[in-house]
Amino acid sequence: MQIELSAILPADTAVAVVVGEGLTLSAAAQALETATGGYFTGALKKSGFTGAKGKVQTVSATADQTYTALVALGAGPLGDLKGQTLESVAGSLWHGLKASGLTSVALDLSGFAAQEVATVRFALTLAAYRFDKYFGQAKLDKLPALKTITLVTADVAAAEAAYQPLKAVAEGIILARNLVSEPPNVLYPESYAEIIKGYESLGLKVEVLGEAEMKALGMNALLGVGQGSRKESKLVVMQWNGAGDAQPVAFVGKGVTFDTGGISIKPAEGMEDMKWDMGGSAAVVGAMVALAGRKAKVNAVGIVGLVENMPDGNAQRPGDVVKAMSGTTIEVINTDAEGRLVLADALWYCQERFKPQFMIDLATLTGAMIISLGMDYAGVFSNNDDLADKLANASKSVSENTWRMPLPPQYEKQIDSKIADIRNIGGRPAGSITAALFLQRFVNEVPWAHIDIAPTAWTNEQRLTTVPEGGTGFGVRTLNALVEAYYEQ
Ligand code: BES
Ligand code: MN
Ligand code: ZN
Repeated sequence: MQIELSAILPADTAVAVVVGEGLTLSAAAQALETATGGYFTGALKKSGFTGAKGKVQTVSATADQTYTALVALGAGPLGDLKGQTLESVAGSLWHGLKASGLTSVALDLSGFAAQEVATVRFALTLAAYRFDKYFGQAKLDKLPALKTITLVTADVAAAEAAYQPLKAVAEGIILARNLVSEPPNVLYPESYAEIIKGYESLGLKVEVLGEAEMKALGMNALLGVGQGSRKESKLVVMQWNGAGDAQPVAFVGKGVTFDTGGISIKPAEGMEDMKWDMGGSAAVVGAMVALAGRKAKVNAVGIVGLVENMPDGNAQRPGDVVKAMSGTTIEVINTDAEGRLVLADALWYCQERFKPQFMIDLATLTGAMIISLGMDYAGVFSNNDDLADKLANASKSVSENTWRMPLPPQYEKQIDSKIADIRNIGGRPAGSITAALFLQRFVNEVPWAHIDIAPTAWTNEQRLTTVPEGGTGFGVRTLNALVEAYYEQ
């Protein structure tokens, strides 16, 4: 879908205007009402439209009008139409019209500030996203007819300028959604690393470590997970330098490009979902692309551990003991608890090499997180209240739901091993918490937060107008908002 900006209302297209609760008219709606001699609201009343938030009502144009159709975009109380509410309302225009048969519509935003026009453009871009690259012509022909939305605003240049940072964030979100949606025969550690390399053009510094380099560093926890795969494991280090020699912030992501469970193999049903077991890494890559794209005044490091967890003659066995880069020995009781093994080495490497201000990891770590919070909340675990509070504010500001979970030291005994320092599973009680406690073993003094996005990386149900079914890109916006609100110079 194409979004254009124009200073004049194009003819020969449908025209949409914002209408508030109780048929309160925006400037453009008032103009349409006057131009149609009262026909517009009269027709809306007959249709039962009240201006409720998110409702879209199309009425036919009269014979003397140049428009194809007149569309009311319900906004709820006009006084509340900003921020996340404006995004939600803007996204509903796409969903209200995508199946209408209209091929183009002009949304008249006369009277809206440039920043608001930019927000509308951002929301429509995210709402109209779909992953259709593997569709043949027959399927492409059945896609929604709506191809162009023109946003009408007096100062096109100001709206364009206001959109630039949001454009970078949208690019990061869409990249994350695409990565999560790619099939696992296409996206595997090496091909994934190549895609990330491609973003050096934005000014990101990208290093790719292979198995030999990781072996030399002692990353046996990560390497053990990938040892049953024909695909070489990779660790990708991204750096964005936007703030001189300031101490960096750091993001770490779980990038299991496919999780069969390994020798502790998962049941067949639903296993295809495990292509999105790299959702945490996608959020980190997307956030780094957003920061670089908008030239954020921050130094940021993004590290993703990319592995494929496969059963094989060479695969890791339940009972194996591996020594992580930190020196900690781990008894691998269940090869399906692999994400924490990958993150153990990625976190340790991150803090040792970069000494960051804080470290946040994102991972589709545990099915138990879905049992705890359902499908609409990610769990946050942190050793630092200040960081956790900032993260909560950031996620709230962009409608990515998170909920803080405890890290009770008395549960540590669940991950005690009889023959090694720790074991990689803690039994059924508090499965997400014992996974987080495991990660914490690989974090020193540095402020750290772990976001378990198993519930939110993928959605089979559209909850927000700006997040369609499929890969959500969850986390990109939260990390970007966190940096923007608290860590830019
Ligand atoms: N990738 C899964 C967690 C997951 C499950 C993410 C469902 C998204 C949806 C993870 O690697 C895993 O298999 N975890 C196990 C841990 C168990 C063996 C302790 C789980 O959740 O069952
Ligand atoms: Mn697993
Ligand atoms: Zn996994």
